[in-house]
Amino acid sequence: MNVTWVMGWPSGKETGSYLTLDLGGTNLRVCWVELHGREHDIKITQDKYKLTEEIKTGQAEQLWSFVAECLETFITKHNLSPNGNELIPFGFTFSYPAAQNFIDHGVLQTWTKGFDIDGVEGEDAASQLKLAMAKKDLPIRLVALINDTTGAMIASSYHDPETRIGAIFGTGCNAAYMERAGSIPKLKDLDIPADCELAINCEYGAFDNDHRVLPRTKYDVQIDNESPRPGEQAFEKLSAGYYMGEMLRLAIIDLHEQGLIFQEQDLMKTKVPYVLDTGFLSQIEDDPSTDNHVTRQCFNDSLGLQLSDNELILVKRLAHAIAARGARLCACGVAAICRKQHITSGHIAADGSVANKSPKFKARWAAAMAEVLDWPQERTTDPITLTSAEDGSGIGAAIIAAMTDDRAKRGDVVGIRDEKTRRLSKVNVL
Ligand code: GLC
Repeated sequence: MNVTWVMGWPSGKETGSYLTLDLGGTNLRVCWVELHGREHDIKITQDKYKLTEEIKTGQAEQLWSFVAECLETFITKHNLSPNGNELIPFGFTFSYPAAQNFIDHGVLQTWTKGFDIDGVEGEDAASQLKLAMAKKDLPIRLVALINDTTGAMIASSYHDPETRIGAIFGTGCNAAYMERAGSIPKLKDLDIPADCELAINCEYGAFDNDHRVLPRTKYDVQIDNESPRPGEQAFEKLSAGYYMGEMLRLAIIDLHEQGLIFQEQDLMKTKVPYVLDTGFLSQIEDDPSTDNHVTRQCFNDSLGLQLSDNELILVKRLAHAIAARGARLCACGVAAICRKQHITSGHIAADGSVANKSPKFKARWAAAMAEVLDWPQERTTDPITLTSAEDGSGIGAAIIAAMTDDRAKRGDVVGIRDEKTRRLSKVNVL
């Protein structure tokens, strides 16, 4: 439950041009976002840069110098320069658990989603990036470090005032919501009015890390043991896209080793960890053919395996079980926030590959929400619905940076670093 220092909802009138960076998965995305103060009047220019496996498992210096290099390439290519004495304002979406004493600060608690870079955990990711930018003399001023869930919530509420929660159901699984300052014990020593709202990044991918609540299969245990951070992100490892293809792969290998399937076939291609992604699972689940030939083709193309009719039925059931469990757990996380906050209606703005591309996700998620929250059977509409989030890590980061700059101008400096403001010396929520 990380305090984000995003204080309340946007007005929809935020203006300004912001550089943003999205670091959280396969690609690194840099954007130039122009906010014109009207909800449908946003211009966005963006480029993507590939994050190699070497960087994802390398050293901190390598990561940050690569990030700074991408920023430099982007500002050169798009002719961005400081406005007079004003450095280019910058919002950084860092989609990992970060504890923040200020909005432009974030101590990485643990890498998640398969990242394993030495020298960042326990350190302030914002300072490390600032150092790398300074080494290149980049004319950039970091205004805010945010999480993708908070970005999704704020960007979506800019357009849709019914937004209550921002969620990511993708490579990882997490959500953010708005909380009253008075309900946050770790803020009690700061003189923030009790009814002032601020966003909380739940990081509930780490729920049940001590394995007291949720049952795990032997495949879940194996995924955890063989991951770079065993014991971390217990809930995420059961429900997020990054792990679902791997569950299917481990089940197939196990059934093969028990002599039950794919006898006389070469499983060499199946032996590669994480070779199957969620897209593979979705294709199986989405197979519209009556003779399952799409599924047959997928196994042939990706793994070089030929399936018998019975094997086809089995893999389809496995894919169903994995995806259905994931979607139902994703609903539990959101339902827990709704219960705690007494949210009984509104929109859950969701982004991520599972939410957007997994064919049956939405229906399964809604059915599980209904079960957990006891919605009446004979309803005509669901009181809480899933909506497609606006671009949180680009537009959301820009809006949050604009909100932060506006607050600073008004002298509302809660969670904004300013060595001269004595009030802030008390901030320490780590
Ligand atoms: C992981 C990260 C979290 C992020 C989520 C979705 O759970 O720890 O910060 O929000 O993935 O990307």
